[in-house]
Amino acid sequence: MMPPFQIKFMPESRIIEAESGTSLLHAAAQAEIFIKSGCGSKGSCGACKVVVLSGEPLVIGTGSLTPEQLSEGVRLACQTMIQGDMTVEVPLESRLKEHQVLMGDVQKGILQESDHDLLEKFGHQPLATKLRISLSAPTLTENTSDWARLSMEIRRVLKTGEKPVDIPLSVLKNLPEALRKANWDVSVTLTDIDNGITVTHVEAGNDNPPYGLAIDIGTTTVVVYLVNLSTGEVVDQQGSYNKQAKFGDDVITRIVYAVENAEQLQEIRIAVVDTINELIDKILVRQSLTCNDFSAAVAAGNTTMTQLFLGVDPRYIRLEPYIPTMTNVPSIPAKDVGLHILPEALVHCFPSVASYVGGDIISGTMVTDLANGEDIILFIDIGTNGEIVLGNTDWLVSCACSAGPSFEGGGITFGMRAMPGAIERVVIDPETLDVALKVISKTLPVGICGSGLVDCLSKLLEAGIIDRVGNFQMGHSANSARLRATSDDKEFVLAWADQAGGGKDVVITENDVKNTIRAKGAIYAGIRTLLNMVSVEMDMISRIIIAGGFGNYLNVQDSVQIGLLPDIEEERFEFIGNASIKGARLALLSQNAWREAKELGQKMTYVELSVGPTFMDEYVSALFLPHTDFSLFPSCT
Ligand code: FES
Repeated sequence: MMPPFQIKFMPESRIIEAESGTSLLHAAAQAEIFIKSGCGSKGSCGACKVVVLSGEPLVIGTGSLTPEQLSEGVRLACQTMIQGDMTVEVPLESRLKEHQVLMGDVQKGILQESDHDLLEKFGHQPLATKLRISLSAPTLTENTSDWARLSMEIRRVLKTGEKPVDIPLSVLKNLPEALRKANWDVSVTLTDIDNGITVTHVEAGNDNPPYGLAIDIGTTTVVVYLVNLSTGEVVDQQGSYNKQAKFGDDVITRIVYAVENAEQLQEIRIAVVDTINELIDKILVRQSLTCNDFSAAVAAGNTTMTQLFLGVDPRYIRLEPYIPTMTNVPSIPAKDVGLHILPEALVHCFPSVASYVGGDIISGTMVTDLANGEDIILFIDIGTNGEIVLGNTDWLVSCACSAGPSFEGGGITFGMRAMPGAIERVVIDPETLDVALKVISKTLPVGICGSGLVDCLSKLLEAGIIDRVGNFQMGHSANSARLRATSDDKEFVLAWADQAGGGKDVVITENDVKNTIRAKGAIYAGIRTLLNMVSVEMDMISRIIIAGGFGNYLNVQDSVQIGLLPDIEEERFEFIGNASIKGARLALLSQNAWREAKELGQKMTYVELSVGPTFMDEYVSALFLPHTDFSLFPSCT
């Protein structure tokens, strides 16, 4: 077998070894450098451009690269195969951005007052506990078995009544030694769910608290919280890109990859399990813990992410009539999933409602407490899909509208996620077209995030640079150099190259504007369709709760001005950040919350927007700033 080759990635100068035939896209992921992959390595999207500085790779496709780019060494990472040592530069625009963005909630202080109130309301009764037990040693006259001795004591201490206490074979096998080595003073880890109590670990007696993991499995990012199950405190947290990104940016391209054959399904499953395990390992080291200290995990993800995490074939999710394999997921021992926690600890995945309303939305809905009051609440999670839930204690309806990746930075020339260097606010002088920017972390601008995009559209409209369908007004009276036509588009310069972090002009193009209008149109049309279905008027909604990293920075007024959000009083909007992981923490800490999550899955009615003309009609009407029906936006003039 040929020895591995050395691949050096620039500008980090990070060197890894890779086998012949490995694509540069995979090798970069191995080096923890995550490259965009919009088409799932098909060579058609052009998102994965790299520059080969030295070496002679095998190039199997060049997509739409121009002869000039090729002569400069530009290649598509997914189409370039290693067959020798190489040095490769990964430009900024080809990279998924750095990790700190993922931890937005964490940096802001993970939990809000409402999270503590909610735990109090549901009741603190975690899915796993730890119990210190002192047993009397057996004698010739008191000779009950080890397991009977232990289980009787557990029943006595916990007053379990009829609830069965069980022990898996792997723990039973170690029981005699564990009891005797500890001189009959042991700590037992227990899972406690509806159908009984299970002993998942027996160790020498100690007073360490039990820990659990709340996991948010996002399509783009994965976040893990370490939760002290005794106190409810989030002790540590880690976040990273989902390593599945190398198989495609969105769920559809990943499904296409996964269903090719059993090996690829396993490969994509391992990618997300590895992502989670690396985060767990970092926490272990930081907190000086061992895998055996983690006694439960709750994972929230969309339906595709959940199926891929468990290795369940997701093919029918993308084929009409879009049926998931399961909506309720049995709790599974960690050893069967491959997580680096106590092998017999249970991994609980949130139930989903349908193929495109998943466990992350159930988790978020639980955090909003939407289903426990008379008031009608609208819950929106804005990402690649806009998932919408509407209802109260009596009824719940939900839908998913394909917003496209614009608000997460995809499909936008200088789009990026909300992280340092992202433009989040734009001010444009309507007379001169001069621009003032607010950039996250006050660095030089390198791109624009979703909230910046919303703000930008609103200001472009206000300054008369675009009209109400998003066309650029090239004859604008200011006659500014910022407004210019290129060979294939029109654009407005937000930051000149000498004031930009990437060393080139940061622009928004007419195409970017149209993509954003389509994205906001889809979300608003989804809201209207749900409201129409249940005959609820906008003013009957008491609160609109918005989740997702994008929502954290969103300006309500601008969102209304462009017709993304309904035109109601600003006080009725609320932003809750990463609701999915907050729900996972809550479920970990409260059996009642976990029960509620399962009930929510049963109770929520899913509305398929592609059935019937309503959504399409609403969508077409919403492809206007703010909307073709101005009466829906009385505050916009
Ligand atoms: S061209 Fe799309 S991932 Fe490489």
